[in-house]
Amino acid sequence: MRIGMLTSGGDAPGLNAVIRGAVLIGQTVHGHEFVGLRDGWRGLVEADTMPLGRNEVKGISKQGGTILGTSRTNPFEGRGGVDRVNDVMTELGIDAIIAIGGEGTLAAAKRLTDAGIRIVGVPKTVDNDLDATDYTFGFDTAVQIATEAMDRLRTTGDAHSRCMVAEVMGRHVGWIALHSGMAAGAHAVLIPEQRTSMEQIAAWVSSAAARGRAPLVVVAEGFTLDSMDDPHSERGLDAFGRPRLGGIGEIIAPLIEERTGIETRATTLGHIQRGGTPTAFDRVLATRLGIAAVSAVTNGDWGRMVALRSTEIVTVPFAEALGTLKTVPQSRYDEAAMLFG
Ligand code: F6P
Repeated sequence: MRIGMLTSGGDAPGLNAVIRGAVLIGQTVHGHEFVGLRDGWRGLVEADTMPLGRNEVKGISKQGGTILGTSRTNPFEGRGGVDRVNDVMTELGIDAIIAIGGEGTLAAAKRLTDAGIRIVGVPKTVDNDLDATDYTFGFDTAVQIATEAMDRLRTTGDAHSRCMVAEVMGRHVGWIALHSGMAAGAHAVLIPEQRTSMEQIAAWVSSAAARGRAPLVVVAEGFTLDSMDDPHSERGLDAFGRPRLGGIGEIIAPLIEERTGIETRATTLGHIQRGGTPTAFDRVLATRLGIAAVSAVTNGDWGRMVALRSTEIVTVPFAEALGTLKTVPQSRYDEAAMLFG
């Protein structure tokens, strides 16, 4: 088969390891041929391709980003749509597509598959918010980067006896915040799943400061104070109509200072969490998912996504993968919250 491969949505460390795993095993074991589609669905809609063989994937699993490029292009907008995708696939001689992406990408992949296009999905997101897979690659790297940044914030916070607020990504779930916050020994972790009052946050900060600690507060970008209606978003919507989050750290920092009298600084880690070298865990997971995606294509498992369940790689229908957001369960929050203050 001739397989088109694309990476779409926000990048995640490990994308290149998926591409390498799929191309190496696809060529050597299954005899498939690959073509790269540039910048996600845009490459498919505009027939913008690049060669994708052994030579192109040499040594790339340790590289961040994606050699294919990515974008948040919606394949149903502009000149896109099912007919256009079918025409381009015929023109390029592409039999099937491996789409590597998160929730928005997989939702588009499902719509295309429902219309008869042969697609297998690979889940990707640093947010770790897809319910059908235990972990997504990129998450472990994001947590590692955030933890290292918080370790640094703690030393400068200690030096000045300040409260440090670290804002992390995660969209509407608190996984990055929960894991990096626990790893860094945060005195409060604020996540979208748990609305919290400023009084409670100030109490945790004051209690840590009373023991002579410089308080560290980790806040997920999707966190909502109990006095707010929606998560803080001042940058409009993305191509899939979702609010672009960010900035809540800068909002709560002055409120903490006002209530506790402790000088407070906010740092938004932002895209640093998605950049650079993937961890070994993410490289291994991504490579295994790439290999499994090629097997799924070989078996004609259209409309399915590869996923990690415990230690095994399985396939699940797109519908199941998109059904529920994987939020932080109450028990995981309660366990972490015993360490706050
Ligand atoms: O979904 C991954 C993610 O990094 C979110 O955590 C964040 O809200 C969003 O993407 C940022 O998107 P962009 O890269 O378009 O600014």
